[in-house]
Amino acid sequence: MPDEDDTTDAPDRPSDLMEKVVSLCKRRGFIFQSAEIYGGFRSTYDYGPLGVNVLRNVKNAWWEAMVQRRDDVVGLDAAILSPPAVWQASGHLANFTDPLVDCRKCHQRWREDKIGGVCPACGSTEFTEARAFNLMFKTHAGPLEDDGAVAYLRPETAQGMFINFLNVLQTTRKKPPFGIAQVGKSFRNEITPQNFVFRTREFEQMEMEFFVPPEDSPAWFEYWLAERFRWYTGLGIPEDRLRLRHHDPDELSHYSAGTADVEFAFPWGWDELEGIANRTDFDLKAHAAASGEKLEYFDPTTNERYTPHVIEPAAGATRTMMAFLLSAYSEDEVGGEARTVLRLHPRLAPYQVAVLPLSKKETLEPLARSVLASLQPHFMCDYDVTQSIGKRYRRQDEVGTPWCVTVDFDSLEDHAVTVRDRDTTEQVRVPVADVAAELRRRYEEA
Ligand code: GAP
Repeated sequence: MPDEDDTTDAPDRPSDLMEKVVSLCKRRGFIFQSAEIYGGFRSTYDYGPLGVNVLRNVKNAWWEAMVQRRDDVVGLDAAILSPPAVWQASGHLANFTDPLVDCRKCHQRWREDKIGGVCPACGSTEFTEARAFNLMFKTHAGPLEDDGAVAYLRPETAQGMFINFLNVLQTTRKKPPFGIAQVGKSFRNEITPQNFVFRTREFEQMEMEFFVPPEDSPAWFEYWLAERFRWYTGLGIPEDRLRLRHHDPDELSHYSAGTADVEFAFPWGWDELEGIANRTDFDLKAHAAASGEKLEYFDPTTNERYTPHVIEPAAGATRTMMAFLLSAYSEDEVGGEARTVLRLHPRLAPYQVAVLPLSKKETLEPLARSVLASLQPHFMCDYDVTQSIGKRYRRQDEVGTPWCVTVDFDSLEDHAVTVRDRDTTEQVRVPVADVAAELRRRYEEA
């Protein structure tokens, strides 16, 4: 794992990578500015027809690795709205703040810890005293807007797992070490949302709370660091664009006894994709004290009762999707012609397959449609008949479709189709009867 601040671009990665990916996202329907027809609503984004597929694939890949393929982790989907008592106990009401300063010259507001003492807008070094700005979105539940009706949009999914600890323990008969995983929206009133979907006010998290006997927490912390790093490389982010960075003691969150971030080499430098924290027994003890419930585990083999410690891998789904797109974007040449290609892992691509009848002529349509129907139970498929086959291949390359299946006039005679590979552009002829199995094989092997 590289450790130095080296974000040098690879030869096929353009220097204006960020602009190119943002433009591709808009142009091809991955991500739109929210409320665009009203001038846009800052820091919120809508995921279009292709983006929603990628985002789902990211979340599904996480769920498969963290829940489906394990017998020691179960899932949860907790409410987004919650009462102040949860956030009082968790420490968020008191501590979930960023230091807010106003520039004395241009009056713009900034997060003090992100600007290095210089106003990014006007260059001034004169600021107001920093004040703690709480990042939680506050609202009212019910028809009265009084203090008794205050509710918060969750700023992390994690607390849903802690407050359901007993429910899960009792209903699943799990015992430590075991985890509860959740994927869902979180909301933070970020002072300076920025860098496209990297830091937004509404975003999605993929978090898991892993409850362990206290003495085992250092070993589990190391275990989850390695597992999580491997998840990103397994889905195609090159190792030299990822690193693990351990937090200095003065950086630690109020609940953490140790945190390491998985960082990605974004175009602006190394930045966080995921935090893996040793949260000790902070949360369970805090909620036990505030609620009066015993949030403990009774071990019948030793007759001991204890509060488990928690190792938490906490990732951002939307931020991670952006890292996958940035890492997949490349430009190369095919047959002397420039092309843009998203080298997304087939599991993450918005479509795994595009079915392309060579011509619009009606004679090809029945066979092309029946090939499409045979692939749709297995894969997300696109069906495209417009423009030349070369242009259609380029369009699919640009959105990351790993395989194109072309139905031509010979197909009517030999009952075979051409399968083209996005990365190598290699084309092979495959019998129609075998094409689903052949693509499945390639998908499983990717
Ligand atoms: N439960 C611990 C927790 O929430 P965090 O480091 O604040 O930890 C975890 O958040 C992950 O959530 C981050 O690594 C990032 O990927 C994502 N995330 C946090 N704030 C975000 C924001 N404003 N926009 C997009 N993603 C965000």
